[in-house]
Amino acid sequence: MTTLRCERVLQLTLAVIKPDAVAHPLILETLHQKILENNFIVVRKKDLWWRRKDSESFYAEHSGRFFYQRLVEFMSSGPMRAYILAREDAVAHWRELMGPTKVYRARYTAPNSVRALYGLTDTRNTTHGSDSAESAKREIAFFFPEFSVQQWLDKEEQRFRAGHVEYDPQREIHTPLRQS
Ligand code: RTP
Ligand code: MG
Repeated sequence: MTTLRCERVLQLTLAVIKPDAVAHPLILETLHQKILENNFIVVRKKDLWWRRKDSESFYAEHSGRFFYQRLVEFMSSGPMRAYILAREDAVAHWRELMGPTKVYRARYTAPNSVRALYGLTDTRNTTHGSDSAESAKREIAFFFPEFSVQQWLDKEEQRFRAGHVEYDPQREIHTPLRQS
């Protein structure tokens, strides 16, 4: 059982471990541990491999940018892992853990960040994180169409916030404690 107890409403974010990191099991495991150490609740976890059209559609906002083709190819080049994470200020906190998008900048300005430690290039930069609560909702729907953010906030959030949650090491996610 964990002792996660928060005063403020939990926020959800989408975190993705990109193919460059998933290719290295030790890095993937380290990132999972980092998520737990930072008091995120792992609401859902999914391993997947995008087709090119998934990649194109997820990054449609960047079409036309010089790195778009590179990005689309990279994101469909191998398996990745997506998480729905909950925490106070989940969006900002996960982005802070990731560090700046550009790896060289990350190494100078946030040397302990995930991208500074494990990023390879500005494209192969280890992780993705939603940049706002609205993006999180849209991106969660993209990766987890079966999941309803609204329903989770209405029905589950309070229980998780009160700390009625345990970590299932087999599934590597948190689950609500059954009420007796
Ligand atoms: P993300 O969306 O992945 O969390 O990253 P971000 O907001 O920090 O960065 P964004 O500007 O949205 O860019 C999306 C992803 O495109 C790739 N990228 N490559 N110069 C390059 O080669 C370049 N610039 C951006 C990165 O994978 C970035 O995460
Ligand atoms: Mg972005």
